[in-house]
Amino acid sequence: MKPPPSSSSSAILRKGRLSPYLFTLLAFILFVTILYGEDFRCIFGSQFDSHHPSHLHQTLSSTTSEFQTLFFSYVSLVVSLVLEKKGEKLPFAIGETEKDCDVFSGKWVWDDIGRPLYDESECPYIQPQLTCQEHGRPDKDYQHWRWQPHGCSLPSFNATLMLESLRGKRMMFVGDSLNRGQYVSMVCLLHGLIPDNAKSMETFGSLTVFTAKDYNATIEFYWAPFLLESNSDDAIVHRISDRIVRKGSINKHGKHWKGVDIMVFNTYLWWMTGLEFKILQGSFDDEEKDIVKLPTEEAYGMAMKSMVRWVKKNMDPKKTRVFFTSMSPSHGKSIDWGGDPEGNCYNETTMIEDPNYWGSDSRKGIMRVIGEVFRKSKVPITFLNITQLSSYRRDAHTSIYKKQWSPLTPEQLANPVSYADCVHWCLPGLQDTWNELLFSKLFYP
Ligand SMILES: *[C@@H]1O[C@H](CO)[C@@H](O)[C@H](O)[C@H]1NC(C)=O
Ligand SMILES: *[C@@H]1O[C@H](CO)[C@@H](O)[C@H](O)[C@H]1NC(C)=O
Ligand SMILES: *[C@@H]1O[C@H](CO)[C@@H](O)[C@H](O)[C@H]1NC(C)=O
Ligand SMILES: *[C@@H]1O[C@H](CO)[C@@H](O)[C@H](O)[C@H]1NC(C)=O
Repeated sequence: MKPPPSSSSSAILRKGRLSPYLFTLLAFILFVTILYGEDFRCIFGSQFDSHHPSHLHQTLSSTTSEFQTLFFSYVSLVVSLVLEKKGEKLPFAIGETEKDCDVFSGKWVWDDIGRPLYDESECPYIQPQLTCQEHGRPDKDYQHWRWQPHGCSLPSFNATLMLESLRGKRMMFVGDSLNRGQYVSMVCLLHGLIPDNAKSMETFGSLTVFTAKDYNATIEFYWAPFLLESNSDDAIVHRISDRIVRKGSINKHGKHWKGVDIMVFNTYLWWMTGLEFKILQGSFDDEEKDIVKLPTEEAYGMAMKSMVRWVKKNMDPKKTRVFFTSMSPSHGKSIDWGGDPEGNCYNETTMIEDPNYWGSDSRKGIMRVIGEVFRKSKVPITFLNITQLSSYRRDAHTSIYKKQWSPLTPEQLANPVSYADCVHWCLPGLQDTWNELLFSKLFYP
């Protein structure tokens, strides 16, 4: 299935094209009538003038050559129209993906030579929660898989092109820790091209900024796990179980996103607390808080619509690109893939082979909401549908090979399954593929 937002954005372009075509056709007819009206009258006139056959002949031959001129001008018109059509390309685009190729539908293939795209030890920006090798992961196979779409090939990630395209620009990832992982992956994919003294990484509250000085470019991450204002917005202390999101509050964070050229949103994990979600109607400062409970899917849809409206109001589709990354799947229950009822992603070193594997059902409901919001909106947001391709990758999580928030108890240590992280992903690894997909949608939409 084609991701709806890209098809809806091309629908906009198609609609846009229709009227210039019609206009040009009308202008063309008018042009012909005025310019050649004289000759038409001549032909029709001379056909009835049997006394001047030589004149008739002359007129016909001159009409033929004029018809040729006409024909060529028509051809050049069509050519310029085609060029004009090319001129309507999306910002940053330099080519196209093969027609009708869904890059998100494919399979994982083993790649011993080309992967990983960088070494864990070569990228100093990976948080200790994601450096699996450093924390003792014994296997490396998870680093060697390449995504192969069924219908075409992904362009190879060209860091030079990416960095050059970011010259004088800002790229921003907004969302939760999974989006932070994708952000760090992007920085790791690019930083090797920049000498040490020409790059920096700084954090200002919710905002983390990687700067490539000579390029005057920044790649940024903004912590907003719900996109809207919530009681989990502190970038460091945010582990709150009683989560509340404030309705219609996207500008609280959105004011920090203005002026960005390439935007990548995500939001999902933090909504997954049960069937209902608490929504605040007023302000967090109100003495008596006005809170309603909504079905989680409805609350999620509300946030999605806020995001779409924010994009419509604040991003110029002629100059910028906006992406939305779908749900990152977790692998907390082996029983989902027919494994040990007590197990999870811990000790998994191979991926799930069943091409129809999907996992938890709640993802289907959220996917449906995303699909509906994007189908109805005309705002060009490119959907990075990474859920299915990541759902096979039970082997790619950080599991127990990460820096722990707090020291582990002897009971935990005795039972690694109990503290394995089956949500986040080792770097290098799966999230580099998400960026290869982003790369392909950015430059070859
Ligand atoms: C995302 O991709 C999966 C697998 O290709 C597909 O089943 C799903 O419908 C897609 N979601 C949307 C919203 O397009
Ligand atoms: C990568 O992009 C740069 C800049 O556009 C280009 O000069 C170079 O040829 C590309 N490299 C490859 C391997 O395509
Ligand atoms: C650097 O980039 C910013 C946008 O991120 C732009 O506003 C500014 O003019 C640029 N400065 C130079 C010196 O190019
Ligand atoms: C890990 O998996 C291997 C086989 O894949 C198995 O032999 C081993 O017992 C497992 N270890 C633990 C601690 O579950």
